[in-house]
Amino acid sequence: MINWQQFGLRSNPYDTLPLIEGGELPIHKAFVGRTVELQSLKDIFLSDSRACLTILGNVGVGKTSLANFHKFLFKYEEKKKPLFSFRREIEASKNLLNKKSFLTEVIGSTLREIRLLDPDLIKKEELLQKLEKLVDITQSLDISAGISIAGFGGEFGKTGTTEYPPSISNTMLENYFSNLVEFIKTHEIAGKKFGGLIVHINNFDIVLSDSKEKKGVIGFFQEIRDILQTRDVYYLFLGPKHFFRDIISVEKRLKSVFHLSPLVVNPLSKLEIIKAFEERMELLKSPDVVKYIAPFSNEAIFSLYDLYEGDARSIMNGLKDILSQVPETVLEPLGVDEAMLLLGKERWEVIKKSELTKEQEELLIFLATSSNYVTQKDLAIQLKKAPSNISGYYFNPLRDAGVIEVKKQEGKLKYWGLTQDYLPIKFILKAKKTIQQKTKENMQQLSLFSKGVENR
Ligand SMILES: Nc1ncnc2c1ncn2[C@@H]1O[C@H](COP(=O)(O)OP(=O)(O)O)[C@@H](O)[C@H]1O
Ligand SMILES: [Mg+2]
Repeated sequence: MINWQQFGLRSNPYDTLPLIEGGELPIHKAFVGRTVELQSLKDIFLSDSRACLTILGNVGVGKTSLANFHKFLFKYEEKKKPLFSFRREIEASKNLLNKKSFLTEVIGSTLREIRLLDPDLIKKEELLQKLEKLVDITQSLDISAGISIAGFGGEFGKTGTTEYPPSISNTMLENYFSNLVEFIKTHEIAGKKFGGLIVHINNFDIVLSDSKEKKGVIGFFQEIRDILQTRDVYYLFLGPKHFFRDIISVEKRLKSVFHLSPLVVNPLSKLEIIKAFEERMELLKSPDVVKYIAPFSNEAIFSLYDLYEGDARSIMNGLKDILSQVPETVLEPLGVDEAMLLLGKERWEVIKKSELTKEQEELLIFLATSSNYVTQKDLAIQLKKAPSNISGYYFNPLRDAGVIEVKKQEGKLKYWGLTQDYLPIKFILKAKKTIQQKTKENMQQLSLFSKGVENR
């Protein structure tokens, strides 16, 4: 448990949830940077009466937060063409990837948002009530189908998840969806007029991490191609960098519906990350505190930035892991060496929990102290052992535990190194030396200081 109050903070500033409308951190204050990306989103949305756009980038760079902030701006601050949107994130899961589930989720999420902002409107409007019923029916069917799969009673329908009563057809759902969009354009919601709807589908990373799902995802987009072209509806699909190439541009007819190129999200700069953290700490400052105490020096944050190549989520997880290792009160922000040493220590303790054999520990220390990648032969020489037994005892178990991996291969020769998560154990030895040196210097200064006092 980390005591955040000692820093003058109410709670954890390194929370890794995406920024979202209505979240713990107010999105319009906590969001930093991305002016270029926001401008191009704005240009696209203002110049067309519909749009279909992919927002792509590595995990943890800030795709979801960007989409959420863009939605926020168009919902509350855009003057020319405000667009309605729901804050809830629809995750691209296997179950979502058919027209029926997709439309049900989109209609359901939109209704829920209307209910949050303007509950009286639902009471007043028959269409909205009818839509709520419809979503209710399809969702309870889904849930009961789920139960029959789990092995409880066959009376809920024997054929699995896709059994809907014939009365709720795709055509009907499509019509209801158009009605809903029309409703949004012609009615005030919470006293405000909107020109259309933004639909945001999050995280194609997860479905696509299983390469068998690729075909299904392509099929899904072909199936919803017509609803993607609904006037005044703006779609954002978030995913990994290869999403556009592998899914959207596979077929011309589909590609033509989408914006020409994906919006690629790159990591925030080092200074933007610092600014984001400062902003968060300011927002989370305890009421009676004049100035919070930053737990980390900028240099320490920069070295985590380098380690995780700007992935904000990993950086924050790393910072949290480091603080969980700090023994006592921190008076000064942690410097690079202290931070990296603690991160290395934390990772080392995680590894230790998996009960290393003596051999595995030897290999790890060898990897942690050598400046190059290591081959089996290198290790055999180091340990004076026959190379033949080494892979089974030494390398494979650590590879399976995600601690080491093959970094490059030349013919049959494999070069091993620590995975990114465990790279910090390399810092243990180096940082320890630097800190010992620094402590020595500090001691000298301290003794000079006290001599000065004595001599007075
Ligand atoms: N522009 C930004 N300003 C401040 N914090 C951000 C920004 N973008 C991302 N973050 C933070 O970084 C972390 C990862 O962002 P997220 O949007 O979830 O990334 P992704 O969707 O690409 O995985 C979250 O904790 C989020 O709050
Ligand atoms: Mg995300």
